[in-house]
Amino acid sequence: MDYKLRIEGGTKLKGKIVAQGAKNAALPIMAASLLLKGQKLSLERVPYLKDVNTMIDLLRKLGVQIDFKDHHIALDVPEELCWETPANLVRKMRASSLVLGPLIARCGRAILPLPGGCSIGSRPIDLHLKGLARMGATIELVHGAVHAHANGLRGCRIYLDFPSVGATENLLMAAVFAQGETVIENAAREPEIGNLIQTLISMGARIEERSTGEILVEGVDELQGCQSEIIPDRIEASTYLLAGVITRGEVTVDEINTGHVDALLAKLEESGVPLTIEKNSVTVHPVRELKAVSLKTMPFPGFPTDLQPQIMSTLALANGTSIIQESVFESRFRHISELNKMGASIEVQGHTAIVKGVRELIGADVQATDLRAGASLILAGLAAFDETNIFNLGHVWRGYEDLHIKLTKLGGRVEILPVEEIESKVNGINMKGVH
Ligand code: UD1
Repeated sequence: MDYKLRIEGGTKLKGKIVAQGAKNAALPIMAASLLLKGQKLSLERVPYLKDVNTMIDLLRKLGVQIDFKDHHIALDVPEELCWETPANLVRKMRASSLVLGPLIARCGRAILPLPGGCSIGSRPIDLHLKGLARMGATIELVHGAVHAHANGLRGCRIYLDFPSVGATENLLMAAVFAQGETVIENAAREPEIGNLIQTLISMGARIEERSTGEILVEGVDELQGCQSEIIPDRIEASTYLLAGVITRGEVTVDEINTGHVDALLAKLEESGVPLTIEKNSVTVHPVRELKAVSLKTMPFPGFPTDLQPQIMSTLALANGTSIIQESVFESRFRHISELNKMGASIEVQGHTAIVKGVRELIGADVQATDLRAGASLILAGLAAFDETNIFNLGHVWRGYEDLHIKLTKLGGRVEILPVEEIESKVNGINMKGVH
């Protein structure tokens, strides 16, 4: 069943919430459990999200026993693993490809149906495959699936043409058992990769991050189970800060690492938002006049692409024109037509959006085309005059735990409703019991 979020806009959000654990750290770290043999990986602060559930389903299919309770997950990995990943799960979530590196390292083979494109771009995994091939894996494409074999991987230098997050994580995990030293050059430096590296080190891996952007991995023979904690979700935290800004409210997000949200804080300061920044929390105070600012998405520590749709809806209500360039994904602008339906004035020119600030947004029926596009529409709905209905809410549940509970706690007037029920209400007919 599909659900929609109904928002009665116009309330200034006020209050404090605690950030969830990071989705993009939990997924690769859970995949890293596959490197263990007859051992347990125990993780704290794991968020309850649709994508986490998909990863649980995938790991269970490969043979891992999993217990998930109170944000604590225990992954019990058997001596023998299955190395063929089911197409239905891989197609549900691109991050399923993160099991490829650990499976080749641990089992010497893996079959992974290609995750394919998604609504934010073609998103190939060529960098993952090229790196694995350099380490000695044989990669073949058979009926749309990657078949990889390796009779022991060997350390080597791998230069990534782009600092891909997923490729860095996959190659890092593959390199843990490779013979000798692997150097990943131009590696991604997202904080979630740091979380993965710390967890692998706690398992006994030998990894060193260089400030020049290189990651060095010295292969080891085996790993041990360990405990680790997922870092705070900088994208979720930033989304709630922007919810405070767009409603001209006062929101505190607690238990975050403020160093991970520097790019956003710099832009908020530039646009005149009063901020209180402490070690583990940030408060946005009511802003009288939000100034337009321009930005370009970049790999970390640049402005995150995962926050581009949300800052765009916020700047849609700024004073002046903001220029937003998307440099990470080729077509991450699908929220724009929906924002324009709500009265925004945003024009797309190639990879650039020209956002002319308007005085108000007006509620409308809009579609969440992907996870962060959905978040951007929710922000717009919170600030808009009248009612907004956001359809395809399933996308948003991939990344935001207890979204409606947190928004309600901050004073937002939101309600989740099953779409069928709405349609019957709209038609003025009670469909229950009617055949
Ligand atoms: C991860 C995040 C996602 C975020 C993205 C960029 C997870 C689970 N997801 O996705 O939320 O938006 O980082 O910060 O952590 N590319 C190639 N070839 C490759 C790999 C990537 O061309 O082999 C391209 C992609 O198409 C994209 C760009 O590189 O244009 C960035 O992709 P990447 O950093 O790999 O993102 P993901 O790991 O998929």
